[in-house]
Amino acid sequence: MPDLRHKYNFPTHIEYGPGAMLDLPKLIKNAGLKKGLLVTDAGIEKVGTPESLRQAFAKENIETVTFSDVQSNPTDNDVYRGTEVYKKAKCEFIVGLGGGSPIDAGKAMKCLATHDGPLEKYDDSKGGDRFITNSMPSFYAIPTTAGTGSEVGRSSVITIGKTNKKTIIFAPTLMPDIAVLDPDVTRSLPAHLTAATGVDAFVHNLEAYLMPEFHPFADALAKEAMQRIVENLPIAVKNGNDIKARGEMLVASAMGATAFQKGLGVNHSIAHALGVIFNMHHGLANAAVLIEVMKYNAEQKTSADKLASLGYIFRVEADAQAVIAAMRDWQVSLGLPVDLKQFPIKKTDIPAIEEYALGDPCCPLNPRKVEKGDVARILENLCS
Ligand SMILES: [Fe+2]
Repeated sequence: MPDLRHKYNFPTHIEYGPGAMLDLPKLIKNAGLKKGLLVTDAGIEKVGTPESLRQAFAKENIETVTFSDVQSNPTDNDVYRGTEVYKKAKCEFIVGLGGGSPIDAGKAMKCLATHDGPLEKYDDSKGGDRFITNSMPSFYAIPTTAGTGSEVGRSSVITIGKTNKKTIIFAPTLMPDIAVLDPDVTRSLPAHLTAATGVDAFVHNLEAYLMPEFHPFADALAKEAMQRIVENLPIAVKNGNDIKARGEMLVASAMGATAFQKGLGVNHSIAHALGVIFNMHHGLANAAVLIEVMKYNAEQKTSADKLASLGYIFRVEADAQAVIAAMRDWQVSLGLPVDLKQFPIKKTDIPAIEEYALGDPCCPLNPRKVEKGDVARILENLCS
């Protein structure tokens, strides 16, 4: 509400443009840094992007050591091993190059570079942010997908091995010093992953926009980003070398992560449940439940009005059901799922999914209050 106190943050330094990644070593050299840890994963190594970056560092006489063993859902063990490499090599800065995983792992390594373990000590849900007090090494993020937006975020999501729980480490000082949005870097992303990660960025913007909190800055970003995604994701999926579409997607993804400081909603809660229980891809999980979740939200007038206000983005009338139908067509045209029937998820799995989703931190932020039984009702129409 406009008559209450709010806190807004938009502080990230962004370097945008084709070739921006290869200019990063110059900026780091200007900061007086000489040796850094490059955090990435095996898949990205295969594409060759880390090697191009290492060569650019070498040209500036900056030494790098690489930790390329981050898993797709990064664990505390990945973070401990990477931090060890950082300390042993006496590095001065960290670069996270990849999707959300290497960037999140890099952020957690930045924390442990100057703070004692174990990592779960810094669990945000237990007030762990109060222990993140020491000065930390500089951290630079280069996304290779346009989806998570972790490059402009202040948190890191790491699975703690002992509990097998995704744990959020949050502190404003975990924000990357520079986020490099280089569309050249995302060109190698295959079409199906472009669609799956891109729809995640769309849902970030949509759920942030639907949240009722008074946040006109985030709402403006979210609407603008949704329009850019609806137009450009089909182009990027069709032609991965379209630099303009790749660039639009990177910017819209970063805008989404900036907007979702407002919060997300039950779509993400169900996607988190499907990720943890069935190891389902985060973007596909979001896509599969989106239409039913939006139908559920649209039963509440405030959400229906907000959905209706997005008609111009899909070039349909200002009506919630028309927007939802157009959203569904858009997903289908991108080859994305609109239900769970192609996945090994049965109606008998619904209670476990609902239990996890109701305990997820995004769930209480949903614009329509989610009651017990609501998630089951949403899922009922989606499973075979
Ligand atoms: Fe997401």
